[in-house]
Amino acid sequence: MTAPKKLYVKTYGCQMNVYDSERMAEALGEQGYEPTNTLDDADMILLNTCHIREKAAEKVYSELGRFKGLKAAKPDLKLGVAGCVAQAEGAEIMRRQPLVDLVVGPQSYHRLPEMETKTRQGEKALDTDFPEEDKFEHLKSRPKARRAPAAFLTVQEGCDKFCAFCVVPYTRGAEVSRPVDRILTEARDLVERGVREITLLGQNVNAYHGMGEGGSWSLAKLIWALNDIDGLERIRFTTSHPNDMGDDLIEAHGTCEKLMPYLHLPVQSGSDHILKRMNRKHTAESYLRLIERIRAARPDILLSGDFIVGFPEESDADFEATMALVEEVEYGYAYSFKYSKRPGTPAAERPQVDPDVADERLQRLQALITRQQRKIQDEMVGRTVKVLFEKPGKYEGQMVGKSDYLHAVHVADAQVSVGDIAPVRIISSGSNSLAGELI
Ligand code: SAH
Ligand code: SF4
Ligand code: F3S
Repeated sequence: MTAPKKLYVKTYGCQMNVYDSERMAEALGEQGYEPTNTLDDADMILLNTCHIREKAAEKVYSELGRFKGLKAAKPDLKLGVAGCVAQAEGAEIMRRQPLVDLVVGPQSYHRLPEMETKTRQGEKALDTDFPEEDKFEHLKSRPKARRAPAAFLTVQEGCDKFCAFCVVPYTRGAEVSRPVDRILTEARDLVERGVREITLLGQNVNAYHGMGEGGSWSLAKLIWALNDIDGLERIRFTTSHPNDMGDDLIEAHGTCEKLMPYLHLPVQSGSDHILKRMNRKHTAESYLRLIERIRAARPDILLSGDFIVGFPEESDADFEATMALVEEVEYGYAYSFKYSKRPGTPAAERPQVDPDVADERLQRLQALITRQQRKIQDEMVGRTVKVLFEKPGKYEGQMVGKSDYLHAVHVADAQVSVGDIAPVRIISSGSNSLAGELI
């Protein structure tokens, strides 16, 4: 038997890329590849890339350049680019960086085995189609390997919303929902392999409308079906759009036992003028009313969001409206970004905000968000939360995991195993995590 080839995968971007990287490793498993964390051992290096902001995309080229030496030392080493930069730039990547052997877009991962064969024959392989066939059906899992207790599961992909700043509708394509039975089968398989928490993924996950018994199912209906799987203890989903927050999903947050009290609901801006220019199709007010309804259903829910500052034409008053919205909502987490001009998107053509002004706004917003995060985290001290333990910590005997609210919690001298869920009393709050003790 020949020794297995080694695959080194580096993942950038969102959780869907994390999920896709696992599926790609499985697809290449069929070609005799085993994963490695050591670059020098690799027979193939695959970068699973992100195109969301300019910096993310540029990083790929500087990273690729660094493999020059490796490739000179090991001529058989294959270099592949997957993900959203692959989709957006296609063959251009091979022109800019001739070391690259393979470019595969997010909808073509199931074709990786044939593409790999082609590279072994000394040819370049490029596939950025949006094929008709269901890539997930081809990406069958390998034999029942044990899994970490928290897993991602893609249920929906792509986006039809076309926010004026965003590349996702171009890189991931039109919105597609996977059928219910495939998702439930995959979920049961994950649970058999030790998974206790599943995060349902989609660029617009709450727009889910996959076919199931009796017709098309909403995300809430899917969550209720997952709730019935024995051994699955926690359900989460991300990312949602405010306009797709259906009544049944809001209600599920109050009544569905396994659905965790955490919701990532990006708003992007607190200014109606900017929201309109962003093509978000909601207002600050409609978002705030939505939050009220969600909190009425589940008062302790922890909210998180995404913000863009310095979007074209954003005035001081527009930015102050964003600050006011954040003050009103009180986020447990929030991610804020300086607007990054993306080629091909409508906002790229518009008058840009002075970068220094945008920087200053970003700093102010981030300071506010950090204060809110810290406050909500500090309020956990003295409370008892359930923690799903995911791995040993840095110190002997320490275990780390996540609370229902997704806070990282570490416990010293913890008599628990990976995969256990146990009540923990929070004793202190650090900058990025909580410390607790088992009770
Ligand atoms: N589907 C998700 C978001 C996907 S991208 C949603 O609709 O919310 C993740 C985040 O990146 C976005 O919420 C947005 O805040 C940010 N983002 C997207 N495009 C950007 C750009 N051109 N510049 C800066 N931030 C951007
Ligand atoms: Fe991008 Fe908007 Fe779609 Fe989210 S909803 S993926 S921000 S276009
Ligand atoms: Fe990035 Fe593509 Fe995800 S652009 S954020 S990897 S969908």
